[in-house]
Amino acid sequence: MTNLNRRTFLGGLAASAIVLPLAACGNDTDPGTAGSPAATGGGGGDKAGPIVLGFSQVGAESGWRAANTKSIQETLTAENGFDLKFSDAQQKQENQIQAIRSYISQGVDVIAFSPVVETGWDAVLQEAKEAKIPVILTDRAVDSQDDSLYVSFIGSDFVLEGDTAGKWAVEQYKGQGLKIVELQGTTGAAPAIDRKEGFEKAIAGSDLTIIDSQTGNFTRTEGKTVMEGFLQKHGDQIGMVFAHNDDMGLGAIEAIEAAGKKPGVDIKIITIDAVKDGMQALADGKINYIVECNPLLGPDLADIAKKVLAGESVQKRIVVKDEAFDQEQAKAALPDRKY
Ligand code: AHR
Repeated sequence: MTNLNRRTFLGGLAASAIVLPLAACGNDTDPGTAGSPAATGGGGGDKAGPIVLGFSQVGAESGWRAANTKSIQETLTAENGFDLKFSDAQQKQENQIQAIRSYISQGVDVIAFSPVVETGWDAVLQEAKEAKIPVILTDRAVDSQDDSLYVSFIGSDFVLEGDTAGKWAVEQYKGQGLKIVELQGTTGAAPAIDRKEGFEKAIAGSDLTIIDSQTGNFTRTEGKTVMEGFLQKHGDQIGMVFAHNDDMGLGAIEAIEAAGKKPGVDIKIITIDAVKDGMQALADGKINYIVECNPLLGPDLADIAKKVLAGESVQKRIVVKDEAFDQEQAKAALPDRKY
């Protein structure tokens, strides 16, 4: 089947996507797990050459992002039947739109991307649709009325992550009236919007209150700077930090220590991601609780891309399972941590 024929067929598939039970796809987090399409090699469908997949990554803002990029680059290899074209958008939507347009003009087989922010994608996704190039979303969602603009979305439930963090905080610290400062992720990004929503709902009606909230753009440096500002403004009032990712939490730890306070003791810290540096700080007692966000999305992306190009039905939404860790659980999990 030629590229053109295959894409013509896909246009019909995307419009009538069948949702399979979650277990049919699963979330195989090991890029080399035997039996997974990513591990068994070979291109998708009946295409002779490799699958040309254009991937537009958000950036390199965090440890999570580095692990996510590694998973994608280590899975979508020539041995596994892929020709991966990878670009880093440096956290800028205009760079991602430019990269997607470039993939469209190159005539790649599939486009995948993790959107920096939720809104503003309809025009470029419509261009991909008209070019009959299927689009797979990874990690972050887009906010669009038209879900025919992409074939599948693989990623964690960010609202649930915020909810898990908030419920643990209430359970652990109820009755202490702790005042919380929140380090938000990138403004307009799905994980920042959703984690905030989940956390706020979970603590509503409790004696925990958010007294300040600002973006740290998911980076360690900005997390530290924003925390320094919070400490200057609110001083001893601050009882807890809720950081939307480990990196900002780690930046906050530096600011708290520089202010002569003990992170994890004087100021409780809850973060999201569970990358190695975060887990180490948790095991060391400087963070109190971490909700995982699994970055190993490469195998599911490879699987979905192959299925889509083979004309098979795919799940519209693949929810990645996350765990959560307290300090003792972090100590036990650290030796086997993959990222
Ligand atoms: O979209 C996932 C988030 O992006 C991670 O939690 C954060 O570390 C990253 O920057």
